[in-house]
Amino acid sequence: MKRTLMMVGMLAATAFASQAAMADAGLDLAKAKNCLACHAVATKVVGPAYKDVAAKYAGQKDAEAKLAAKVMKGGSGVWGAVPMPANPQVTEAEAKTLVKWVLSQK
Ligand code: HEC
Repeated sequence: MKRTLMMVGMLAATAFASQAAMADAGLDLAKAKNCLACHAVATKVVGPAYKDVAAKYAGQKDAEAKLAAKVMKGGSGVWGAVPMPANPQVTEAEAKTLVKWVLSQK
């Protein structure tokens, strides 16, 4: 019984650690790809705050693919007149990872 409880505790700790690692990977990638030159999680900079982006698209299934394409190609008109330039340094897989991270911000 004691052993089982310990196992459950260890599993929970592992799940928590890997979730934290995923969040850090998103942040690190955003830093490495220069996204944070124009964005912050909680405040508008040149582009919208990532938590505002997450709130706007909450519950929209197609948001991830749409936003990943926009991250790569750039675009304007959703948050104001200032366009986001294309980000050719970002691969499709990286764009998806970044968008997943953005959409998980609260
Ligand atoms: C030169 C400044 C700049 C950089 C660098 C930049 N962005 Fe943006 N981003 C913007 C602006 C401005 C907007 C608002 C565009 C609009 O209103 O449609 C935006 C919008 C967005 C949106 C929301 C798009 C929508 O249609 O709602 C996401 C997601 C996003 N950026 C992610 C990223 C990621 C990820 C990176 C890094 C690869 C990045 N941005 C780099 C300026 C930037």
